[in-house]
Amino acid sequence: MNKLKICVAGATGWAGSELARGILGADDMELVAAIARRKAGRTLGEALGVEGLNTLIFGDVDNALKTGPDVFVEYTKPDVAKFHILSALKGGAHVVVGTSGLSNEDYEEIDRLAKDVHRGVLAVGNFALTVVLLQKFAEMAAKYIPHWEIIDYAHSAKKDVPSGTARELANRLSNIREAQLDVPLDKIEGPKESRGARLQGTQVHSLRLPGYVISVDAIFGMPDQKLILRHESGTSAEPYVNGALLAIREVGKLVGVHRGLDSVMKF
Ligand SMILES: NC(=O)c1ccc[n+]([C@@H]2O[C@H](COP(=O)([O-])OP(=O)(O)OC[C@H]3O[C@@H](n4cnc5c(N)ncnc54)[C@H](OP(=O)(O)O)[C@@H]3O)[C@@H](O)[C@H]2O)c1
Repeated sequence: MNKLKICVAGATGWAGSELARGILGADDMELVAAIARRKAGRTLGEALGVEGLNTLIFGDVDNALKTGPDVFVEYTKPDVAKFHILSALKGGAHVVVGTSGLSNEDYEEIDRLAKDVHRGVLAVGNFALTVVLLQKFAEMAAKYIPHWEIIDYAHSAKKDVPSGTARELANRLSNIREAQLDVPLDKIEGPKESRGARLQGTQVHSLRLPGYVISVDAIFGMPDQKLILRHESGTSAEPYVNGALLAIREVGKLVGVHRGLDSVMKF
């Protein structure tokens, strides 16, 4: 069996290192390259203390792409993610994006290139199965309930706002309709920021406090009743591994940008 050749950018990080361990345990995949600056030149096994992980860590994307990956996984930081993704597409790889913080405009640009080079990009704000289910349930609710808002909770050191999960949820709900506002934003009395950011037709509020890991609430309100869909993540990156492996296996069947793991799941 030909193994899928994978390059993981951010393979020494919290999420990327857990995925690298998952790829090591997958019979149908081979981790041919890793990208990270501080441990460049070492093997990933040395960097993570994992025996048998002989993949070399490259400090830059161009040299990593010379290993000829079939799938490039982007798991670094928003400021470099788009450059990595565009480089990987030009280098002939399909791309799985785990990094949060890319805008819709970024994805439009990536989509144009991906279609030109006939490659797939699967961008998943949260690979956890429980989040995919929350997204599905929220989409069902938005068909029947016109008022909703999103609250995104994370630890105080998380710089990007809103979280990838909240952005992706807002993006999906925008395909159903815009959330209704009974008092339009220009008629608000008091600081407008108190109503959060309007993101693709949804008010999104981001809390950044010690004590939180990553959680999201999608709150749907109707007269005298409300529905609160909540997802809470634990502290390990384990919930993201199986979803990312699924995305890696499926992205080669896609062309252009697809958002959300459910694009490759059956419901
Ligand atoms: N989609 C999901 O399910 C999911 C789940 C978890 C996290 N995330 C997202 O994934 C991203 C990474 O999160 P994390 O918690 O794993 O971060 P992290 O622990 O800080 O890891 C970042 C990794 O990227 C590397 N890196 C950073 N800047 C780089 C650059 N300019 N060039 C090359 N490598 C670079 C880092 O190594 P060096 O610093 O040594 O370069 C490190 O290996 C974030 O955007 C986060 O929100 C998504």
